Amino acid sequence: MYAQTAKKPNPLLRNGAYGIVMKGVHFCTRGCASLRGRNSAPLCCIKLDTATDLCCGYGEMLKIWHEAFDIRGLGVDICSEFIEVGKKRIAENAISGITLIEADIFKWQTDEKFDYVCLSGEDFGGFQNTIELLEKYVKPNGKLIIGTRYSKVEVPPKELIEFEGETLPLIEINRIIRSKDYYITSMAADTQAEWERYIMWSAKRHLNDLRKSPENQSLREWCDKWYDMYFNYRRPYEGYVTVVIEKL
Ligand SMILES: C[S@@+](CC[C@H](N)C(=O)[O-])C[C@H]1O[C@@H](n2cnc3c(N)ncnc32)[C@H](O)[C@@H]1O
Repeated sequence: MYAQTAKKPNPLLRNGAYGIVMKGVHFCTRGCASLRGRNSAPLCCIKLDTATDLCCGYGEMLKIWHEAFDIRGLGVDICSEFIEVGKKRIAENAISGITLIEADIFKWQTDEKFDYVCLSGEDFGGFQNTIELLEKYVKPNGKLIIGTRYSKVEVPPKELIEFEGETLPLIEINRIIRSKDYYITSMAADTQAEWERYIMWSAKRHLNDLRKSPENQSLREWCDKWYDMYFNYRRPYEGYVTVVIEKL
């Protein structure tokens, strides 16, 4: 297998709202020990878990976890528009216990440690770096939740890597996780239908931009290339998975 360098793809691809991921993590964290423990604990002993979602987008994942598990959460995202929309949704749903802040995670500082630390749909220098980044915020014995694209084949086509950046097969993702002394204890991969729904949401965003400036030739070419890449390389070789990892 050739070495993959982690590089950021076209920013147009980095557009948030991985509905599948949210659903996946909701599903795969549903049976966590924390919830089982809480169910059997006397009410007075209940201590709500805490989570932080770095690059939280609209903070939907925290919202879902709050609704499912009463989790208290802190979401951080660099995009003011996402944070504003997220805050509005939280207020509309009268949710307390979720805080969203606009910040660059590399400048944001906190002394707080969380039971769950999540990064989904964004990577900064590869899967190993992601683990190291999240570890800074996790309590001892806490869990990391990572959502990432993966390759469905052991050696992904170079064209896919050039277009998307690092796209590791699951066996390699697991190898990195084990090299950092973690084990995968929950995982949820997208179905084709879930991925397709996200992809077409993403495509419509590009097309909306093109609708606003139909004379923009480079945007038009980009949209055509995007569809070609999707059908030639992404659809057959790329999937999305969310893993929960923890140490023994
Ligand atoms: C593909 S979206 C994923 C959003 C969300 N985690 C999800 O799964 O729906 C990537 C997010 O990372 C955010 N982001 C990128 N670089 C960031 C940084 N340095 N600090 C904070 N957020 C960042 C973007 O604004 C965007 O919301």
